[in-house]
Amino acid sequence: MFSKIRTYYKNLSKKQLIFRLSLLIIPLLMFSGLIIYIFAIPGDIGLISWVNWVRKYVIYIIVLDILLFMLVGVDFLVASIGRTEIKRLPSRITVVFLILGLIISLGGFGYLGTVSLRRVGDKAPQLLLLGGVGINNVPNMAVTFYTQEKTTNTLYWGTTLALELIEKTETSSSKTHAFLLDTLEPNTTYYYKINDGNVYNFTTPIDTPNYLHFAVSSDLHFGADNANRTATYGILENIISHNYDVLFNLGDMVEYGLFDAQYKEAMEFMSPYVTSIPYRPMIGNHDTMFGGKTLWRDYFSPELIPNSPRDYFHININGIHVFVLDLEWGTESYTRAQRRWFESELNGVSNDDWVLIMNHAMYYSSGYFVDGESWWDNQAMISEFEDLFIEHDIDMVFSGHNHHMEILNNSGIVYNIIGAFGGHPDPDYTTKVVSQQGTGSIWYLSGQHGYLDVEINGSTAILTFRSPEYTMLQTFNVLE
Ligand SMILES: [Fe+2]
Ligand SMILES: [Fe+2]
Repeated sequence: MFSKIRTYYKNLSKKQLIFRLSLLIIPLLMFSGLIIYIFAIPGDIGLISWVNWVRKYVIYIIVLDILLFMLVGVDFLVASIGRTEIKRLPSRITVVFLILGLIISLGGFGYLGTVSLRRVGDKAPQLLLLGGVGINNVPNMAVTFYTQEKTTNTLYWGTTLALELIEKTETSSSKTHAFLLDTLEPNTTYYYKINDGNVYNFTTPIDTPNYLHFAVSSDLHFGADNANRTATYGILENIISHNYDVLFNLGDMVEYGLFDAQYKEAMEFMSPYVTSIPYRPMIGNHDTMFGGKTLWRDYFSPELIPNSPRDYFHININGIHVFVLDLEWGTESYTRAQRRWFESELNGVSNDDWVLIMNHAMYYSSGYFVDGESWWDNQAMISEFEDLFIEHDIDMVFSGHNHHMEILNNSGIVYNIIGAFGGHPDPDYTTKVVSQQGTGSIWYLSGQHGYLDVEINGSTAILTFRSPEYTMLQTFNVLE
């Protein structure tokens, strides 16, 4: 048989040989390429492992790929064992399938590969909190925005409305814009404007060791039909009027990260507030969906500080350490580089300091069964991080992802869930057939929007869960 096949291929004309080789190479390139590409997009491994229907479609693509290879194999055999000319029928069936596959995979590549090109206009300014501290020990910050066309801009700023400090002008034109503020003084009000735009102002935190008053919430889900923007509005109005030092947003800012229009809507809504308070958003699973991470990085993580990571941050305010991690669905986005960075940063922090962890995915949490997965205590997160947290005496952990409010205590570490910034609240887990109370749960509230007000002062932290109207829902004291 093998000698027959060998003779057959030796006798093929150049044209016939190219045809047969194309049959082999085309499916290899298109389907296998698409599968590799899907798995390489940040956030997609989590999406595939947590969402049933996505997993199903990926399996269909893999099965189709295998079938195509089998079809091509059969076609090769039929053609080579038979007469020396190409047998028409199997070849035609194979070619039809290949054309179909080519259309599907080119469509997939085309759609997913052009997410960063499909922008829908300029993005409003924000005052972002970055990793590290400036020359006066105040956290690094940056005024950032995005323009659809390449432009060159100037930031005018000062401690009075005269904007008396030396202006900052970009040296080259670009679409992403970021002005680093690393010379800020503590407890000082700054005024600024971009070109001849609005004048904004913000106040830097007071420089009292172990003092910080911040607001934190999560899961805005801009673009989702069932999100409640009145609640978001109330939360932001109260955050600005009650003079918090900084605002943290634990992710899922948008419903689908591949749609730039949702980022535009989110940033337009947030800009009037987050130009007046240092703001640190973090990456949620919805933000990175199908390639949204490129957009997230452009809008929320400017490349300003050499060698600093773009997806995770170590923020230090008055000796209080806040580690912002990229944990979207769970441990799927915990890369080796991130682990190395986190462990080495933790080694440089004293166990006597306040150490806070913030990220999107939850560790301990109450929850219920969703789409083939249990959305309570995330065992992978717990086994990856709990020992490390105990070893480094982590004080508090803040997550969203589940849309409810909860406080849990395990091994002296206080875990907070605050997925209540405006995304649709999850139903009460006790109303679900398959559900579980989170280990160490102390207090749980569902069906309520709001945020968590945290005031750290010396060795005590006061945690207050608040409604969008500023009503106190529950309060706890935590000791360092
Ligand atoms: Fe969410
Ligand atoms: Fe989420």
